[in-house]
Amino acid sequence: MTVVVLLGSPGAGKGTQAPVLSRHLDVPVLASGDLLRTAVAKGTALGREADRYMSRGQLVPDETIVRVFLDRLEQSDARAGAILDGFPRTRVQAEALDAALAEAGRRVDRTIFIDVATEDLVKRMANRRICTANGHVYNLASNPPLVAGVCDIDGSPIVQRPDDEEATVRARMTEQIPPLLEVVDHYRKAGVLQKVDRREPISDVSARVLAAIDSPTVIDVPATFPAG
Ligand code: AP5
Repeated sequence: MTVVVLLGSPGAGKGTQAPVLSRHLDVPVLASGDLLRTAVAKGTALGREADRYMSRGQLVPDETIVRVFLDRLEQSDARAGAILDGFPRTRVQAEALDAALAEAGRRVDRTIFIDVATEDLVKRMANRRICTANGHVYNLASNPPLVAGVCDIDGSPIVQRPDDEEATVRARMTEQIPPLLEVVDHYRKAGVLQKVDRREPISDVSARVLAAIDSPTVIDVPATFPAG
């Protein structure tokens, strides 16, 4: 089983790089944000709870997301492994994931931390669009769809995410970066952390992410980060 955790600030490029890793390792992407947005769209009890936090740029409570995400990880399509995008986001979540994997005799094999400066991220999010069917990610500046307003992959309309308004983006950075750094530290200490931190076009970041995954050794990451 291969379990890879993708870490990064909101907008760092986790959702863009996760499918690249998924194709490379032939395991599915499990994205916590997509799970929650689906629940919000369906109006379930989980969706109503999650929406209260997501619309303010806050993290959904640990006990809720741990239960939902670990249930998802247990489904049969993830038996051979998974790319985890957006989970864990706090030290409590990381410890719950470690415990669940350990029960099954598994562990997090590698963690890729995509580190991008905050101001670059705020600009990126203003131009982000996602498709309504499957959440495929575009950017009007750096990665536009071939036909304006339409997803290249499934033909569904592409829209702006409600939490990509600038005030909410800034709240997400303030609320979510400190716990993220605790998770980065958790995996650095576990010796499974690889960092990708150059501001480069999407295809170049993909090449670095794949090189980091395929590297037989984990390059030691200093405790003094991130860049932004
Ligand atoms: P979630 O959906 O996970 O959002 P996020 O982590 O804030 O990450 P994003 O999806 O915003 O960004 P990304 O890193 O995937 O970047 P992307 O590839 O899209 O979570 C949403 C909310 O749900 C959270 O705020 C929270 O409330 C809740 N939640 C989720 N998980 C939770 C958890 N575990 N615990 C508690 N609450 C949770 O790229 C961004 C843009 O940049 C795109 O337009 C893309 O095309 C572009 N881009 C990407 N790479 C590059 C590049 N190299 N150069 C130029 N442009 C680029």
